[in-house]
Amino acid sequence: MGFSIMLGDITQVKADAIVNAANESLLGGGGVDGAIHRAAGPGLLAECKQLGGCKTGEAKITKAYRLPAKYVIHTPGPVWRGGIRGEAALLASCYHNSLLLARDHNCETVAFPSISTGVYNYPLDQAAEIAVREIRRFLKENLVPRDIIMVCFDRVTQAAYEHAAEKL
Ligand code: AR6
Repeated sequence: MGFSIMLGDITQVKADAIVNAANESLLGGGGVDGAIHRAAGPGLLAECKQLGGCKTGEAKITKAYRLPAKYVIHTPGPVWRGGIRGEAALLASCYHNSLLLARDHNCETVAFPSISTGVYNYPLDQAAEIAVREIRRFLKENLVPRDIIMVCFDRVTQAAYEHAAEKL
């Protein structure tokens, strides 16, 4: 399978790890972060409270509690500030560091949401290109994870990732 793109709700995906587009507090929020915490139950927040936050572009891993995944990898994406604050490199780091953690925990399958393109306002087409490039590079250079899925919550997002995947 390698890299694939699907339309859906990441909280329902049975991957070894799902990635959460978190914020630096790791204490929950709206969007996909809120959905993951609601579906996982209170154990997730309790574990996140022990982590002491996470810097933008870095990633931390927890168990997945009531979710059908084994792990949740939490990564705060960059807030879009016009593209001159290192946003592209930070977003690439989110994907790369999440995949390093997945590999270290032997996760064969990993599901990502579209990091930073909701509340954090990253331009969708640019974010999709960065995600596709980083994921493909990681797959080429590593045996684990084997399958990486972009889980898009709406059709516009799905179309942007499909376009990036065809173009690159
Ligand atoms: N499954 C998959 N994707 C989803 C889901 C879901 N259940 N729900 C939303 N999305 P956002 P960000 C999509 O705003 O831009 C939070 O408050 C959504 O449609 O969740 O990185 C955090 O705590 C969009 O395409 O994340 C941070 O404070 C994508 O996920 C902040 O938002 C990302 O949108 C992070 O902002």
